[in-house]
Amino acid sequence: MTISTEWQLAREAAERYQQILVPAILGPAARALVDWSALKSGESVLDVGSGTGAAARYAAELVGLSGRVIGIDLDAGMIQVAKSLSPVNGAVIEWYEKSAYELPLKDQTIDVVLSAQTLQFLKDRPLALSEKYRVLKPGGRVVVSLWSDIEENPYFDILADAISKHVGEETAASLQAIFSLSNADEMRALLESAGFTNIEMTVKQLELELPELKDFVPRYISATYMATGFNAAEQAAQQAVIQEVSAQLALYESNDSITIPFRVNLAKAVR
Ligand SMILES: C[S@@+](CC[C@H](N)C(=O)[O-])C[C@H]1O[C@@H](n2cnc3c(N)ncnc32)[C@H](O)[C@@H]1O
Repeated sequence: MTISTEWQLAREAAERYQQILVPAILGPAARALVDWSALKSGESVLDVGSGTGAAARYAAELVGLSGRVIGIDLDAGMIQVAKSLSPVNGAVIEWYEKSAYELPLKDQTIDVVLSAQTLQFLKDRPLALSEKYRVLKPGGRVVVSLWSDIEENPYFDILADAISKHVGEETAASLQAIFSLSNADEMRALLESAGFTNIEMTVKQLELELPELKDFVPRYISATYMATGFNAAEQAAQQAVIQEVSAQLALYESNDSITIPFRVNLAKAVR
């Protein structure tokens, strides 16, 4: 594969992420994280693992023109899409294709570090947290969101079961991986070990209205790492997943719409 084809694939995947996952699920979840971080006008904010920038763009509105917002992500496609989105009415956002393990910032320069649904994917979580600690000013805060247990997130739980049953456990594993840091005590211990103090944790339940599931479920899968395994499965297996998820989530339907609870753990701590 040539580099330009790889780049194109990364860009297309990021566009699907932005068009499908962000409006329905990740966008509202990012806003909940930013709301909980209680940003003030003029603050400097770093969004680590920004994806296409849902949290960073909302943060830029809140800190305003006197603030500073920086988004970093390892994925070139995510950063390209983030850069392409309309500027917000607020701080200018600086985007960098960089790793959470090597933040492109000097020591003690940032007021708030955000991490929206990213820390669970990082193998070396202590290193990622020590980098956040390094760039925060004394008294600055780190604010992290992670999904609560999969059993508390019926959309993901039912989808993972259906994928595992009809497509395969390997394909379901990439969905289950988003819950690999759902234990609040584990998150607290990581923050303590990194030197953070005044640790606060809370659980936020989002009530998200999703599009009709028969359309949304295959679109959702197409924007995730499950796409390859799902596309390789027989049509009958794909249909079985969609039918099963729609049927099992029908209890959340009312008046022609469907509103499903999604639960996130939020952690906030001070350097
Ligand atoms: C589930 S997405 C969340 C994106 C965004 N924060 C949101 O809420 O929409 C996880 C992000 O972490 C990024 N990521 C994974 N490993 C990373 C690393 N080592 N350094 C920086 N970003 C990383 C991925 O590229 C991806 O954009």
